[in-house]
Amino acid sequence: MHRKLTGPLVAATHNAGKLREFRELLEPWRIAVVSAGDLGLPEPEETGDTFEANAKLKAFAAARAAKMPALADDSGLCVEALDGAPGIYSARWAGGSKDFSAAMTRVQQELLAVKAPRPWRAHFISALVIAWPDDHVEYFEGRVDGTLVFPPKGNNGFGYDPIFLPDGHSRGFGEMSAEEKHGIPADGSLALSHRARAFQMLARACL
Ligand code: IMP
Repeated sequence: MHRKLTGPLVAATHNAGKLREFRELLEPWRIAVVSAGDLGLPEPEETGDTFEANAKLKAFAAARAAKMPALADDSGLCVEALDGAPGIYSARWAGGSKDFSAAMTRVQQELLAVKAPRPWRAHFISALVIAWPDDHVEYFEGRVDGTLVFPPKGNNGFGYDPIFLPDGHSRGFGEMSAEEKHGIPADGSLALSHRARAFQMLARACL
C-alpha cells in the first residue's frame, strides 16, 4: 500500500535548483516544502553504489533529523558503451568547479578510446524517494533513453543536457525549454524527462 503525503515535507537537498524544481512540482497539491539547508541539516555523504541507495540515504537522514517526511532524488547519465558510467558519479565527473563541458569531453574521449560503435546510446535515471520518520519509504524511478551527440548543442538546461538527444525528438535537451523537458502534461500522457517521469509516478501513488 502506498502512503499518501498530507502535510509539509522537507526537501533533502542543499541544491537551489533541485529545491526550486521540487517546489514547482508540488505546488499544484499545495504541499509546503522546507529545505534541508533552511533547517540547518547536515548533508550526508553519498556512499551508496546505486541511485536508489543514495536517494534513500539522503531522504532518511533528513526525515529522521527533521521529524517529518523527506523527499530526495539522485540522478545521472548512464552511457551504455561505458558500462553505465558516469552513472552515480555524474556530478563528480564535473569536478569541484562543476565544469560540465569538461565532463562532456571526458564522455566523448572515453567513447572514442573504447571505439564504441555509433549511435552512442545513453539514458538518464532519476531515483525519487519519500521517507517518513517511522521508516516507511516510497521509491519511484524514471528513465529517458536517447543518443549522445557531439559537439554539445544548446544553452538550456544543465549538466549533460547539451549532448543528449531523447528518442523520437529532433532537438536535444540543451535546445528545449524547461516546459518541454520537465513539463507534466495536463492530459496525463507520459512526461519527457527522467525526473518528470519519476514525479508522475510519485504523484499517482502518494498525492
Ligand atoms: P545528484 O545531485 O547526485 O543527483 O547529481 C546528478 C547529476 O547528474 C547532475 O549534476 C548532472 O550532472 C546529471 N544529471 C541529472 N539529471 C540531469 C538532467 O536532467 N540533465 C543533465 N544532467 C543531469
